[in-house]
Amino acid sequence: MVTGWPNLSNPADDTFFFILGISVTLLFLNTAVMLYFVFRYSRKRNPNPTDVKENLTLEIIWTVVPTILVLAIFFVGWKGFQYMRTVPPDAMPIKVTARQWSWTFTYENGKQDNVLRVPVRKPVKLLITSADVLHSLYIPAYRIKEDCVPGMETYLWFLPDQPGSYDLFCTEYCGVGHSAMITKVEVMPQEDFESWYSGEAKEAEAGEKHGEKEHATKAALASEEGAKLIEVKGCVACHTTDGTPKLGPTFKGVFGKKETIIRNGQEREITVDEAFIKQTLLHPEIDRVKGFPPIMPSQQGQLTDKEIDEIVEYIKSLK
Ligand code: CUA
Repeated sequence: MVTGWPNLSNPADDTFFFILGISVTLLFLNTAVMLYFVFRYSRKRNPNPTDVKENLTLEIIWTVVPTILVLAIFFVGWKGFQYMRTVPPDAMPIKVTARQWSWTFTYENGKQDNVLRVPVRKPVKLLITSADVLHSLYIPAYRIKEDCVPGMETYLWFLPDQPGSYDLFCTEYCGVGHSAMITKVEVMPQEDFESWYSGEAKEAEAGEKHGEKEHATKAALASEEGAKLIEVKGCVACHTTDGTPKLGPTFKGVFGKKETIIRNGQEREITVDEAFIKQTLLHPEIDRVKGFPPIMPSQQGQLTDKEIDEIVEYIKSLK
């Protein structure tokens, strides 16, 4: 996997270098004039100062020149803004849901992932929203950034010009897990993308056909779904499945475990069962496990009853 910067010339870069060019030129000009004045009009060389009252030519120059410069900067910025806001009509739409503290990307065929997978050299349109608080989607390699606002859809587009793996950050402080709200943009060769895009859907169909007859029990199937859900729904941003605690307790071995929980400042010991997991998913504010901050976001409206059952099955299976 390559982590790098795409070669694409980008209007954000053009604007940046245009302003940088002007700034550097002015820095040198100003410094040169300043040094000349310090030297030429020192007390030694110029013992009798003269009072210059006005100079119309100079005043016109230092009004007109900066006005032109500022308008030029505006023009370059405006062109870039237009480019960023004008989505090519053939762009592939991908829905983005930001939540504390993970990302879900939903494709046209219903496929979901917590990594943004895109085919190379095809424009992509991101339709962005948030399930809870303000977040901001930022892909530095493609110089794009947009707020994720609950109850509103914002958008961005970009052209992934070469295969590779690029960072995708949340760049708006959104709570204690903000710094963990990181994922990747995987720019894949067309064929790889195609097989990924259609691949798992086929598997699911095949699974449904033989489904009941196969050896897999209902619980095992649910648990399999649960394993996918904790990725896609972002549980893994705070919970691990390998026994190490993160922002929240690990899922491994938690089912049936004795935990000290805190309710209204009162500690007591409980055994983690289905009811407790469900309560924590929907009403995390009631009880929390001792030693962890009260930051679990409620999943009410985020997960269906079926999905909750699947996650519970999966947690049960992690012994
Ligand atoms: Cu989401 Cu910071």
